[in-house]
Amino acid sequence: MRAVDAVVRERLHSEVVLVRQVAEYIITGGGKRLRPALVLLTAGALGYRGTHHHALAAVVEFIHTATLLHDDVVDESQLRRGRETANALFGNAASVLVGDFLYSRAFQMMLRVDDMRVMQVLADATNVIAEGEVLQLMNCHNADIEVEQYLQVIRFKTAKLFEAAARLGGVIGGATAEIEAGLASYGMHLGTAFQLIDDVLDYSGEEAATGKHLGDDLAEGKPTLPLIYAMQHGNAEQSACVRHAIEQGGRDDFTAVLAAIQATDALAETRRQAEAEIDKAVGALQALPASTYQESLLQLARFAVARDH
Ligand code: IPE
Ligand code: IPE
Ligand code: MG
Ligand code: MG
Repeated sequence: MRAVDAVVRERLHSEVVLVRQVAEYIITGGGKRLRPALVLLTAGALGYRGTHHHALAAVVEFIHTATLLHDDVVDESQLRRGRETANALFGNAASVLVGDFLYSRAFQMMLRVDDMRVMQVLADATNVIAEGEVLQLMNCHNADIEVEQYLQVIRFKTAKLFEAAARLGGVIGGATAEIEAGLASYGMHLGTAFQLIDDVLDYSGEEAATGKHLGDDLAEGKPTLPLIYAMQHGNAEQSACVRHAIEQGGRDDFTAVLAAIQATDALAETRRQAEAEIDKAVGALQALPASTYQESLLQLARFAVARDH
């Protein structure tokens, strides 16, 4: 991870002052660096001995960071990684444009690896993430969304990059088709669980731990699983309350919605679904030979559900 950080610092450079300011602001703000860890661990699990995994881990973190810059503009979020969002501090225009800088820098970096499979994985992932965010935009304020539509959004916007990160270690590590598919499946289920828990934390987290404001999803009228479940399993009054909140957006109904969520046990149910995803993620790792890397990948899967940040 230190080697990855060195690549990140070096490749963040731009002669344009505002690019440097915004990019450094968000990257040095912390973050769990989970996606780069996936690249390193999956490459390690295959006994990879080169240096491309450092570059690719940095690429994945750059793509992730670009999505965060854009996402906070779209979601009008004010807090990220325990401090003001880049859009709050530098404005929406600077955030969107520096997000574009990070995306395109990521593509410059991956060219150096000079492997068409790597480029295919990352080009596809980046494209699917964009589709996921647009699908989510289309679903905003839609209280009639089906669980399957919600799951498609989170597979696209979040799980796809986890899948790509885990698959990349296999690609550069020379994995068999079967092992590569197992790693990709692990990443996809892990990422799905990760977003399910993110959606739980949006209603139950501690801001000091998540570094984000609670209730951002409700404010945007985002129909996440806790809301869908509360709507489907609440009494008439609770369902109507959640429906109204999704359709109107804003934070006025937060307390009432939280009561409906609690009464229907919607957060516990969402956690159960996340755990089911993690069981599948763990199952997908069975084909990997036992090693400390494989052990860490298993621990990471458990962390995705147990985490508070
Ligand atoms: C935030 O991802 C965006 C989601 C997919 C929920 P992380 O929770 O991994 O963000 P950082 O990088 O640790 O801040
Ligand atoms: C994840 O969705 C966003 C991306 C994958 C870019 P959220 O909107 O829930 O992420 P946070 O909660 O703002 O980190
Ligand atoms: Mg957001
Ligand atoms: Mg969220």
